[in-house]
Amino acid sequence: MKSLTVALPGREYDILIASGILSRTGAECRKVLPKTSRILLVTDSNVAPLYGKTAEESLTESGFTVRTVVIPAGEPSKNADNLVLLWNEAMRFGITRTDAVIALGGGVVGDLAGFAAATILRGVAFVQIPTTLLAQVDSSVGGKVAIDLEAGKNLAGAFWQPKLVLMDPLTLNTLPDVTFSDGMAEVIKYGCIWDSDFFRLLSRCGNRAGVMERIEEVLYTCCAIKAKVVEEDELDTGLRMILNFGHTLGHAYEKAYHYETYTHGQAVSAGMCLVARLGEQLGLTESGTETAIRRLTAAYGLPTDIPCSLEDYRSAIGLDKKGSGDGITVIFLKKLGETLPKKLAKKELLNLL
Ligand code: NAD
Ligand code: GLY
Repeated sequence: MKSLTVALPGREYDILIASGILSRTGAECRKVLPKTSRILLVTDSNVAPLYGKTAEESLTESGFTVRTVVIPAGEPSKNADNLVLLWNEAMRFGITRTDAVIALGGGVVGDLAGFAAATILRGVAFVQIPTTLLAQVDSSVGGKVAIDLEAGKNLAGAFWQPKLVLMDPLTLNTLPDVTFSDGMAEVIKYGCIWDSDFFRLLSRCGNRAGVMERIEEVLYTCCAIKAKVVEEDELDTGLRMILNFGHTLGHAYEKAYHYETYTHGQAVSAGMCLVARLGEQLGLTESGTETAIRRLTAAYGLPTDIPCSLEDYRSAIGLDKKGSGDGITVIFLKKLGETLPKKLAKKELLNLL
């Protein structure tokens, strides 16, 4: 087992990474929830038949009374209707301030259940049990919880840190290849922005099987980087923006294809390749960086280029939450493992594309 602590003053929590830990959910949760009697367990229609029973039985064995709510799998479920549904389920269940919400699933379940936890009775304890690679390396750590609105993704939300994050790498074995690759884009991102040795390790792993042979180490490295960033900038007013490497342009691709053709990870992959190219053109990024990122993303089945019109770039950049005023901060790389955030006028960025 590997473990690390996200050291936020007064709200610190552990991330436990171990094969088979899902069957010890109850015992691990009991350590951080000594007074809790009721657990609202939120999962989705794909995850429930795979892992719902194991989690539920383990929680029950540790003396928790569990109510499971299963939402339909997929991004459209991260909506206000399901948030209200969880509020009402929690009230019917008799949740009190000492009770808790657990998310068992990918980032959709984690974001939705986390926002419910943040708002039920003005906030109850929350535990993340992420079951996708993306959720294990990114969304379950750091406390961002949200739902999507008609105007865009993640537009209503909160910062609500979990009390515990339990990661069972065995759950990744049931992921479709495309969903595993999706998470690999975020894994590769950590190598790009923080740790060139990790980038090289991923090159050596070569494919999904290679990553799975070292999965605890891979998850640990990603979570340790994210924990450091979050510890320094929990509320996303500074350093945390480096986690958006590849995301601004990636967002343009997702939006241009109406979130249907390309997954988030695929869009981020092409976004990372393009921003590396732009960085090299501008003399900001060490030469050869783009080639290295293209090679690695392609090895994991991710696209390196996505066609996109100037109009689509313009619209995505104009609406991007991360932009302020006429300027936008683009996360360039100085070299592999080191970022170089640079504020550009939006027009300047468009002229580069
Ligand atoms: P997801 O939750 O939709 O999961 C992807 C698919 O995998 C779903 O169909 C799900 O049912 C299925 N699945 C989950 N675990 C499985 C398993 N072990 N075996 C088989 N199938 C499984 O998507 P995701 O990629 O995990 O997360 C994407 C969401 O995360 C987006 O809504 C995004 O906005 C959010 N996100 C949040 C943060 C954050 O900091 N809060 C960061 C990144 C992404
Ligand atoms: N996924 C970006 C963040 O947590 O800030």
